[in-house]
Amino acid sequence: MDSLEKIVSLAKRRGFVYPGSEIYGGLKGTWDYGPLGTELKFNLKQEWWKYMVSRRENIFGLNASVLMNPKVWEASGHTEAFTDPLVECKVCHERFRADNESDIKEHESRHKGKKVQWTEPKKFNLLVEAKLGAVEGEKSTVYLRGEITQGVHVNFKNVLDSMHPKIPFGIAQIGKAFRNEITPGNFIFRSREFEQMELQYYIKPDEKEARKVFEYWKKERMNWYVGLGMNKKRLRFRQHEPDERAHYAKDAWDIEYETPFGWKECEGIHHRGDWDLSRHSEYSGMDLSYFDEESKERFIPWVIETSAGVERPLLCFLLDAYSEEDNRVVLKLHPRLAPYKVAVFPLLANKPELVKLAQSVHGELKEEFTVAWDARGNIGKRYYAQDEIGTPYCITVDFDSLEDKAVTVRDRDTMKQKRVKIGELAEYLKNYLGMTYN
Ligand code: GAP
Repeated sequence: MDSLEKIVSLAKRRGFVYPGSEIYGGLKGTWDYGPLGTELKFNLKQEWWKYMVSRRENIFGLNASVLMNPKVWEASGHTEAFTDPLVECKVCHERFRADNESDIKEHESRHKGKKVQWTEPKKFNLLVEAKLGAVEGEKSTVYLRGEITQGVHVNFKNVLDSMHPKIPFGIAQIGKAFRNEITPGNFIFRSREFEQMELQYYIKPDEKEARKVFEYWKKERMNWYVGLGMNKKRLRFRQHEPDERAHYAKDAWDIEYETPFGWKECEGIHHRGDWDLSRHSEYSGMDLSYFDEESKERFIPWVIETSAGVERPLLCFLLDAYSEEDNRVVLKLHPRLAPYKVAVFPLLANKPELVKLAQSVHGELKEEFTVAWDARGNIGKRYYAQDEIGTPYCITVDFDSLEDKAVTVRDRDTMKQKRVKIGELAEYLKNYLGMTYN
């Protein structure tokens, strides 16, 4: 098994990620997040929000609808240009992304020795259509948003008028996006429904300023991954070739992660120029310019965007955290990402006095942390199970605890154990979990 297969299996077995609609045979490119996956996703989004929004004065949050007036997508260029080139195998009519050489080669090998003929590449639009309306026949076609970005740009004027921000400022959003991907795959890496975490940062229309701001956000975004414990050696920047860039981008850089299936885009940073606001001004007839009080100039701002998925970085964090040591599997997730921060065990499940004290420790800690409870099997097995889901600390209540009002705290990574007074536990854990941003 390679490490991706191991992660897929662990994710299913331990309640991180399940195939979507599994009992009905599934739905390609969709995934459901189990109890632990939901916590992990939540933590990841919260870390992003804290880092990108809460700590800063000039970034505002937004939460726009998934469904939008279809004119939005005409204006943004997506109905025309949000396409992937696809080729079709003339033998079995399966379709592939024309730029995905490894999938194409793999497919040819399945036709063992037969000469496979491919059609010329055709453009395939990635927007997912939906029908909206109550009466059959009168329903109108809308699109599930292909990027969460447009919800921000169409609200640019609303944010200006309600918050009166001074340029430069940003609008941040987290939410679902949908793409009719031709070949979803590599587990949750490429799916048809996923979440994005984006910042649209509005600046003066000036190339020198744009370069400076672009470099700033590139660094910030890389620091976010490294700050959450991702191995620097597995991360790199890659600039897009001009013919690779999306229709809205003047410049585009990816933060790539070295996965078992190669170096892959984890997140993109884009110089969108005035593409979005100009087009929405033109198509809506609304004036989306900004008046700069200082210079007394009116202009259409430019946009530098940072755009990450949620599930794709989540997969990279899982791959990065996975390690096998002697007799155990450990997910060395950063404590701020770990689904459970701590687990509490009574040494023996059939000793009511131990269970009672352990339950009261569990109850107190639950006020401040996500806490697991386990009273099954022996202690070694419980440690193993918590290591495998990345719980940074395990607390055991034993017979001595009844006397000295202290418990054993065991560290996931070093496996070292320490005795800590019950009354000092919460403080102790907070210090060691690095729960606050410096
Ligand atoms: N607003 C710009 C934009 O959407 P993108 O490069 O198309 O840019 C940004 O997407 C990020 O969204 C990607 O780096 C990836 O993390 C995530 N993403 C895109 N398509 C995805 C898919 N099919 N499945 C999972 N994540 C995806």
